[in-house]
Amino acid sequence: MSSSARGGQGGDGGPFRVGLLGHGTVGGAFSTLLAERADEIERFNGRRPVITGLLTRTQGSFQEILDGAELLVEVIGGIEPAREYLLAAMRSGKDVVTANKQLLSHHGEELFEVAREQDVRLRFEAAVAGAVPVVRLLEESLSATPIESVHGIVNGTTNFILSEMARGSSYPEALAEAQRRGFAEADPSDDVSGRDAAAKMAILARLAFGTPVHLDQVRYEGIEHLQLEDMEYARELGLGLKLIGTAERRGGGLSVRVHPTFLYGGHPLASVSGPFNAVTVESGTITEITMSGPGAGGPGTASAVLGDVVSVMNGGARPPAPPLPLPLVEDVESAYYLHLDVADRPGVLAAVTAVLGEHEVSIRSVVQRGMGERARLVMVTHPVLESGLRAAIERVAEFEFVRSTPRTIRVIEEEFI
Ligand SMILES: NC(=O)c1ccc[n+]([C@@H]2O[C@H](COP(=O)([O-])OP(=O)(O)OC[C@H]3O[C@@H](n4cnc5c(N)ncnc54)[C@H](OP(=O)(O)O)[C@@H]3O)[C@@H](O)[C@H]2O)c1
Repeated sequence: MSSSARGGQGGDGGPFRVGLLGHGTVGGAFSTLLAERADEIERFNGRRPVITGLLTRTQGSFQEILDGAELLVEVIGGIEPAREYLLAAMRSGKDVVTANKQLLSHHGEELFEVAREQDVRLRFEAAVAGAVPVVRLLEESLSATPIESVHGIVNGTTNFILSEMARGSSYPEALAEAQRRGFAEADPSDDVSGRDAAAKMAILARLAFGTPVHLDQVRYEGIEHLQLEDMEYARELGLGLKLIGTAERRGGGLSVRVHPTFLYGGHPLASVSGPFNAVTVESGTITEITMSGPGAGGPGTASAVLGDVVSVMNGGARPPAPPLPLPLVEDVESAYYLHLDVADRPGVLAAVTAVLGEHEVSIRSVVQRGMGERARLVMVTHPVLESGLRAAIERVAEFEFVRSTPRTIRVIEEEFI
């Protein structure tokens, strides 16, 4: 049993000793919040959390901090030395809390295995969706629920950019505004490429389905190529555009992916705008549960980290469950939005729909607009396998009347109203 479990609620009544690794945006906010909340935590837990050691690049000794603490909080980020520190802490019987999605999406299984071997707690609420308690929802509240799918807006930067585009800004304008307001970093590539969201979906897939998923196994697509006119046509079709991460059961396997996705207005994620995060969990037994809130920022993230510390102090959390692998499935069915730029003349729509029909792509709705010599054809299909859709689009692109490369964006059809 870990030292903190021995010394948790009803323990020796002395301070609960927390070692803090990292004192940047999250670590600094965590120190402040802990100082503010220590009285209240002591009131209901019986022990007062105190920071007994602090490590940054320029101060502190890891070994001394480890020796003096019952629990370590890792908010350094990146793979090394965070991985080495967390492994060393757990191997010496200490519980750990981390906000590090990068580390968990690369080395989650190694860390979980050591936590189980040592019977220590490894908590990581802040690694996915910041202040939104989705890890606890999946690990605890829904642990007895057979989950069918998890859909998430798990990157606030891209959600802010898409919200600005929905209000008429171009992609470069929306990105510049996100950077000006501190929602996007100077180098936004991890966010706008979908890679950050993919890391979070790897972690959520492990929690919801027990299947170890490495970041490299998550297919992801970003928002850089989206055009304002896609948003405008979509609005006419009753759709809004989000960067959605999905982990869902498909044909006996599991599909985990991130891509721009159109949602109908009734979907619970359709109304989540600005830098917020939100996650929808679906299951036959619960229909759906959606939670939303701040996905990043020092205070919100620190609140999730401190919540994990208190959960360990209360003896509530357990080591992560052993893996239960499902095969990962790549070719899945989705409805699609298609955007075609064609010559404006009779017979074009008929020729396109004939090719789509040959590949069993059926059309749910169409908007056609003439623009002089050209016309725009915008369609939403019924669900079709991605491979079938790609094959159909390749053939459509070969028509001499097609004027630019066809664009496709997935659509989530469900509405919960
Ligand atoms: N920022 C957010 O909104 C947010 C949200 C959710 C999750 N997270 C996660 O939280 C973690 C921390 O993010 P952050 O934004 O707080 O990062 P940050 O502001 O860059 O702070 C990093 C801290 O770690 C320290 N550090 C870096 N390398 C170190 C090393 N080799 N040895 C010891 N200390 C080292 C830095 O020391 P110096 O002070 O000496 O530079 C700094 O204090 C990351 O895993 C991130 O993904 C952040």
